[in-house]
Amino acid sequence: MKRILSGIQPTGSLNIGTYLGSVKNFVKLQDELPDYEFFIFIADLHAITVYKDKQELRQLTKELAALYIACGLKPERVNLFIQSEVPAHSQMAYLLQCNSYIGELERMTQYKEKSRKQETGVTVGLFTYPTLMAADILLYDPEYVPVGNDQKQHLELTRDIAQRMNNKYNNIFTVPKPLIAEIGAKINSLSDPTSKMSKSDNNLKARINLLDPENIIKKRIRSAVTDSLGTIKYDLENRPGISNLMTIYSVISNNSFEEIEEKYRGIGYKEFKEDLGEIVFQELKPIQDRYNELLNSKELDSILDKGRDRAFQVSQNKLFKTMDRIGLGRKRK
Ligand code: AMP
Ligand code: TRP
Repeated sequence: MKRILSGIQPTGSLNIGTYLGSVKNFVKLQDELPDYEFFIFIADLHAITVYKDKQELRQLTKELAALYIACGLKPERVNLFIQSEVPAHSQMAYLLQCNSYIGELERMTQYKEKSRKQETGVTVGLFTYPTLMAADILLYDPEYVPVGNDQKQHLELTRDIAQRMNNKYNNIFTVPKPLIAEIGAKINSLSDPTSKMSKSDNNLKARINLLDPENIIKKRIRSAVTDSLGTIKYDLENRPGISNLMTIYSVISNNSFEEIEEKYRGIGYKEFKEDLGEIVFQELKPIQDRYNELLNSKELDSILDKGRDRAFQVSQNKLFKTMDRIGLGRKRK
């Protein structure tokens, strides 16, 4: 069976930008591509390349797993697992490190940016991060890897390493293709609508997290930056604030911009924002309810157990095959 795989780092709470731009697409893909097997994992090994508090890491890992299911990932369609619970990832990363070059890792944009910002020293893990990511992928021979634009370079490197090892060791790996979402709307910050809504923004007013309570959701929409024109009209270039709010409205309600403009002709921001607050809340409410049900349930544990067992089976097999091709250990039959 053909496969699709992706990973998410547990580095912060999910916000409606990531949800509308990425998670919703994922949920759609699982139904649109019934003849693919899906693997989605929480990349906790990637999260410790920069120091993380123990409690916070545990909390975010569990939160992310529960949220993904609450957002509509179907456990019967998707193998959801925690990266560190499947040991082949770290082991394969070492084998790939012996087939990667310092020069090519030094060229990674994300490494250059993150190491520049690091005040307390740059870990070796941060440097070799892309080889762990390559291991995550190559262990499962996926045809496609859905990622955001910022991960394209890491995927290119993964392809290079795969091709290099295929030449040296007689075709071990499937060379994966990136799947960059074309339509996923870009949701901008509520306080600076010309920049992306981001989980690392220090300004809390800039975003709505999926787990925010009703009063906060509505307050954030009410205080979102618009302009002084007071009309509901989509014009991304000249009126980024109201256009961003209309994008959120449109993605959730499936109304086109024209339909929204028609509906709010002669009506001001106040009423539009009241409606939008309600629409966002109604979208998030069932997700939050399901999340609360799942968070400390046996159900979540059994979903993660099942995902881990299937991931273990596929990845261990691939790891042994790779070791055999390289000539490590005694020959297996
Ligand atoms: P991140 O959590 O920033 O690594 O992003 C995870 C995924 O969500 C990537 O595919 C991003 O492209 C997408 N994403 C993150 N923030 C936004 C946003 N504000 N609007 C749309 N998509 C987003
Ligand atoms: N590096 C990715 C990110 O920061 C997360 C990730 C880790 C990943 N391993 C992966 C994504 C494998 C796709 C495939 O977003």
